Amino acid sequence: MNHFLDIHKTDAAALRGMIDNARSMKNARAGRPKGTPDAEQPLAGRMVALIFEKPSTRTRISFDVGIRQMGGQTMVLSGADMQLGHGETIADTARVLSRYVDLIMIRTFEEQTLLEMAEYADVPVINGLTNRTHPCQIMADVMTFEEHRGPIAGRKAVWCGDGNNVCASWLHAAGQFGFDMTFTGPPTLDPEEEFIGLARKKGANVVIERDPAKAVTGADVVIADTWVSMHDSQSSKERRHNQLRPYQVNEQLMSHAKPDALFMHCLPAHRDDEATSAVMDGPHSVIFDEAENRLHAQKAIVRWCLGV
Ligand code: CP
Ligand code: NVA
Repeated sequence: MNHFLDIHKTDAAALRGMIDNARSMKNARAGRPKGTPDAEQPLAGRMVALIFEKPSTRTRISFDVGIRQMGGQTMVLSGADMQLGHGETIADTARVLSRYVDLIMIRTFEEQTLLEMAEYADVPVINGLTNRTHPCQIMADVMTFEEHRGPIAGRKAVWCGDGNNVCASWLHAAGQFGFDMTFTGPPTLDPEEEFIGLARKKGANVVIERDPAKAVTGADVVIADTWVSMHDSQSSKERRHNQLRPYQVNEQLMSHAKPDALFMHCLPAHRDDEATSAVMDGPHSVIFDEAENRLHAQKAIVRWCLGV
């Protein structure tokens, strides 16, 4: 079963194939209206459940549009409206859904929910974000980097801020796509040791550097994300902001990166907190290309999962 649960759990050659396929699907429909079906309809007759236990703009819409472009049908479901939100087990939900749909995408809180869904479903399951990882985002980000700057292998990516779920999937990608990763942020918000270890084991040079200017020096891409993720308590907001303010990505910090460095953010952003509007709207920024590429990258992920 081709589940897409995490970047480090997916074969590196398969990941590369997905990026290539995403690119060719994107090129094939360049300039066509968003609602036009793709020339190829590999998802004809397929039904996909998109389950959200957390809010989403990009993930929800890009999966929905992408699947429809490929001829498939979708159901967008809120976890809270399903029996899943009222005590039915994940295993039973997975077994039942497998009788109705060909593929399940789930955005949830605990990673365990995703893993149980995959264990008990008879159809492929895609991770649409958990508290720990966000692999679909980083597939789009790798695609975006390569569109602008060529192969990501051997490059230096610098994460500024909270070592959160998006950072974790960047670390997984560093191992699988062969690039180096520097983390700069306060010690209490370091990425999980397990994820750093995985990247290092695959040969990626992973550095923790507390001085943001030093960290960003020589960067090919500088990445920021929200300081308070959806699973973080609102009561931690003030403390997090105080700890993370020195790691804001602003023009001064970007001046230490390579002159042609990219700035990335998965969005949604809190403008002028984790990154200034001058950077987000400035010449280094590719944030809306990242958002667009969610569509193309996920179409390739869906096709890989279904083998079509
Ligand atoms: N980047 C991302 O996953 O955005 P959404 O939360 O809007 O889906
Ligand atoms: N780290 C963020 C990513 C949102 C797409 C969160 O989990 O809220």
